[in-house]
Amino acid sequence: MSTSTLNYEPLIFSPQTGEPAPLSDIQSEILDLKTKRNAIILAHNYQIEPIQRVADYVGDSLGLAYKAAEAEADVIVFCGVHFMAETAKIVNPGKTVILPDIAAGCSLSDSCPAEKLAAYKAAHPEVYVVAYINCSAGVKALSDVICTSGNAVNIVERIPQDRPILFVPDQNLGNWVSKQTGRAMQLWPGSCYAHVLFTEQAIERLRLRFPEAQVVAHPECVEAVRETADVVCSTEKMIGFCRESPANAFIIVTETGMIHRLQREIPEKTFIAGPTNTCACNECRFMKMNTIDKLRDCLRDLTPVIEMDEDIRQKAYAPIQRMLDWSR
Ligand code: 13P
Ligand code: SF4
Repeated sequence: MSTSTLNYEPLIFSPQTGEPAPLSDIQSEILDLKTKRNAIILAHNYQIEPIQRVADYVGDSLGLAYKAAEAEADVIVFCGVHFMAETAKIVNPGKTVILPDIAAGCSLSDSCPAEKLAAYKAAHPEVYVVAYINCSAGVKALSDVICTSGNAVNIVERIPQDRPILFVPDQNLGNWVSKQTGRAMQLWPGSCYAHVLFTEQAIERLRLRFPEAQVVAHPECVEAVRETADVVCSTEKMIGFCRESPANAFIIVTETGMIHRLQREIPEKTFIAGPTNTCACNECRFMKMNTIDKLRDCLRDLTPVIEMDEDIRQKAYAPIQRMLDWSR
């Protein structure tokens, strides 16, 4: 694929010092294997810094879905969680899609099993199902349109007014979208175990120490946290907000990996991890299952591979394609 579509030049400068950053042996090995396998490395903003720095593209779920769809390499190495790698396979089935740790799941995705959604739809056939991309291929296959945190408001605004909407699986994102659009929606009672740990009290305590800092929160946070924030947005939109804002310091209320990306893109500003009641930062245990060793091993061995039933893949493709078309 053309390098002009990538937002990362692997391993050029250290975000902390601005000095050329030397490669570790394993990072060099990964870049060599990437060439040998004709692979592209896509990484979510929550991945550890050593992975982010060897990736061809680092971004949010929406950007990653576009990059996966247009990838021309033979192999897509997806450094994220299982539903993200599955999405890459759905939109680009001819590629070998590998995930460094096949057990890297997502509590939010798990909160909506496909069988339960199928039963709900059977009892309420009139609903228009909007599924947040953090769900399994089976749930996507039962949905009318997919959204990400980056485009959820725009997607919901396009749905015909005469259709009742069921939003799955994140009640917090759904509640935020409902408030932004003024559209009533039934909300599936799912949530992200990591984002619901942020509390308004912990953030207010940190604000007392950094009164000049703006608070930037992900919409998966609970309503009280979203309401205390200066802005609520997807991980990718956080970059643009922090760059454009006149403020020089920001409390970032999302998974802590986001801080690496922000420091790299905007080295002149200060980023403080959002706190929970018990910890100064907040890592997603699933995102952190991918390690630099596992990334090297999966490129070397071309496993674990994402496999999917073709019927499910085709059914899951239609609502993703609708999202990509509506978001352009
Ligand atoms: P983004 O699409 O904003 O990157 O969020 C993905 C995610 O899993 C948040 O927990
Ligand atoms: Fe899932 Fe939450 Fe981890 Fe995102 S941060 S991958 S929603 S468990």
